[in-house]
Amino acid sequence: MTSVSDAFVFFGATGDLAYKKIFPALQALVARGGFDMPVIGVAHSDWTVDQLRERARDSLEHNGGVDEAAFAKLSAQMHYIDGDYNDAATFERLRKVLGGAEHPLHYLAIPPSLFGPVVRALDASGSARGARVVVEKPFGRDLASAQALNATLHEVFDESAIFRIDHYLGKEAVQNLLYFRFANAFLEPLWNRTYVDNVQITMAEQFGVQGRGSFYDSVGAIRDVVQNHLLQVVALLAMDAPIGRDPESIRAEKLRLFRAMRPLQHDELVRGQFRGYREEAGVEPDSDMETFAALRLHIDTWRWAGVPFYIRAGKCLPITSTQVIVDLKCPPMSIFDEIQPAYSNYFRLRLSPEVVISTGVRVKRSGDEMVGEDVELTARHQYADEKSPYERLLGDAIRGDTGLFTSDESVEAAWRVVDPVLGDHAAVEPYEPGTWGPASARSIIADDEGWNDPKPETSSPC
Ligand code: BG6
Repeated sequence: MTSVSDAFVFFGATGDLAYKKIFPALQALVARGGFDMPVIGVAHSDWTVDQLRERARDSLEHNGGVDEAAFAKLSAQMHYIDGDYNDAATFERLRKVLGGAEHPLHYLAIPPSLFGPVVRALDASGSARGARVVVEKPFGRDLASAQALNATLHEVFDESAIFRIDHYLGKEAVQNLLYFRFANAFLEPLWNRTYVDNVQITMAEQFGVQGRGSFYDSVGAIRDVVQNHLLQVVALLAMDAPIGRDPESIRAEKLRLFRAMRPLQHDELVRGQFRGYREEAGVEPDSDMETFAALRLHIDTWRWAGVPFYIRAGKCLPITSTQVIVDLKCPPMSIFDEIQPAYSNYFRLRLSPEVVISTGVRVKRSGDEMVGEDVELTARHQYADEKSPYERLLGDAIRGDTGLFTSDESVEAAWRVVDPVLGDHAAVEPYEPGTWGPASARSIIADDEGWNDPKPETSSPC
């Protein structure tokens, strides 16, 4: 199906996600031009369409600013349907408001437990015909629930009409991982077990749960960011070259990679919780949920056999940054009698907040001796006019472009990796806010030189 959507319906219109992400993305789509369709909010909050418009304005004031011309257009296209998701009358009203729309896009910004009733009611009311559906992460809680969700969606929608959002895939720096790897000749000879010693990925956040205590306490770091964002980053870093640029070819190679990830074992995972988490609103006073995870992942392919992928993610860490280090093996011998320095050769791919590509190398220091020092050859990249991930992804979904969305098979393959460590684990280990997690996180990487912590980016080479 390649038709462009002709109505945008969002369930959960009065909720947090709509406020933070969807209104700003819709305004940006309108401002860029080409977005001209009814925008129908659905929720059960006893609101009117004017309240929805006020909420949209408030959201924009707090998230990037109001573009009066674009907002006026958006606001004129807005409709609101108040009703229970379990009541057929809600969907009959929706069908009427949809009028002659033939390809509505239904965005489900609602808890996964409501996916079933909503998609079935869309079907029964005739609003699913020719339509697409966009669903948010977390897509399930584990492998079994993800499979059940897929089965529910497939009752009504063909896989080509289902768009599972992982907003990381909407980021330029993340897309650039694939581009950079396969648009440059010099990387491929090195990008394998012969030259790569290990790969480290750190997603550090200086802030805590930011008022999302109740959501976070039912999810934790592994489900919140490892199963999705970080395994997607691993897939882009480690997959083989797709046979073409089309979405199916890229999805197929990614899927092969997900399937080659070895399911995690408990002794390759450390879970931490920052002190003070249990006092957050919405968090259980005796919560065992992790706000930090460090793990060692193995990829059983010809290219990566024996190369550990170390992954770390956490809240209340010393800095906010997502960074990849591809650590290369040492030269075969030390001609200049220097003690082999740690990390002398590596690639550093900083994905946020700055976008940086660096190579760590040794160069001769000035003086009579043949001794050297570490320097980084650094390219800082500005993505001028970068769309927000939601603007990019919603725009793609409206056009029916599945390239940056996760397929049913990939999402299940990623759950299969984390599934064995989601339950039955040792108690979470406490850590002080502002530190790099519990001390035992070092045990995960003990066979290598230790974690390479992201530092504040400086504008001059280190
Ligand atoms: C979200 C998680 O998916 O990603 C949050 O739920 C996390 O906990 C966020 O903070 C990070 O994404 P970004 O794009 O803000 O770095």
